[in-house]
Amino acid sequence: MVNASKTSDSMKIWTVVNQKGGVGKTTTTVSMAGSLSAQGYKVLLIDLDPHASLTYYLGYDAETLEKSVYDVFVSANDNIHPNASLHKTSLNNITLMPAHMALATLDKSFGSKPGKGLVIKKALDQLQGMFDVVIIDCPPVLGVLMVNGLVAADKIIIPTQTEHLAIRGLQRMLDTIRQLTGSLKASVMTLVVATLFDRRVNACIATYTGMRSEFNTSMWRGYIPVDTKFREASQKGVPINVLSPQSRGAFAYDKLTNELLKDAV
Ligand SMILES: Nc1ncnc2c1ncn2[C@@H]1O[C@H](COP(=O)(O)OP(=O)(O)OP(=O)(O)O)[C@@H](O)[C@H]1O
Ligand SMILES: [Mg+2]
Repeated sequence: MVNASKTSDSMKIWTVVNQKGGVGKTTTTVSMAGSLSAQGYKVLLIDLDPHASLTYYLGYDAETLEKSVYDVFVSANDNIHPNASLHKTSLNNITLMPAHMALATLDKSFGSKPGKGLVIKKALDQLQGMFDVVIIDCPPVLGVLMVNGLVAADKIIIPTQTEHLAIRGLQRMLDTIRQLTGSLKASVMTLVVATLFDRRVNACIATYTGMRSEFNTSMWRGYIPVDTKFREASQKGVPINVLSPQSRGAFAYDKLTNELLKDAV
């Protein structure tokens, strides 16, 4: 359990999502947390993926954890405070609500309950004031977990590889988000972020340009470059800016994070 001190403004909630796997969602979550924590912001990371990459990244074993975000779902009606599922990390200012393998069973056990999409939003209402920014890492599957992540968000970040075939999937993802968030809040900001971008590859540049004209203001004007430091950072269990603050990858995520903070995107 973690006792974070209070901050004054209301918490920002950013959800990182894409139905496609391996596009850099978890890397984006950890890297933005690294940028925020270096600036002194208190960050809560929530791992909604049953594969628990974020949880393992930050040094916890999702098979043996006693308390996790799974408990938040199963005890949603029992008045158990979500505080119990918070875990300290070895990183300054970064707290984790980890995943558990049992999350994989939620769609079956929980899928038809009323209010099933609001569990995380309500839990975060109870944690209000403890953190400056909450970042939610979603699984690449449209189900009860992803819906919870989307419904709680005030900003939605969609990492995407600059591959031609990704464009149709992206359109589907944006339609899903519009349907889900449209009925709840009109003002959810959605931002497509090009990741794993290799500026030496012509096909990457052509797809990036095509995406910018198709998704227009929903697309971030920058990009996250391919950088081998990301893999190294994940092996060491730290954000890229801790391993290599001067790397191109760290600079790119600093820029993205600061623009999100300032509502400049
Ligand atoms: N910009 C980058 N440059 C180089 N490698 C990257 C970059 N971004 C991510 N990676 C690597 O690509 C792999 C997939 O990234 P990541 O786990 O963040 O994707 P994901 O979208 O969360 O995947 P999943 O859908 O399986 O959860 C990881 O090994 C990660 O280290
Ligand atoms: Mg992931």
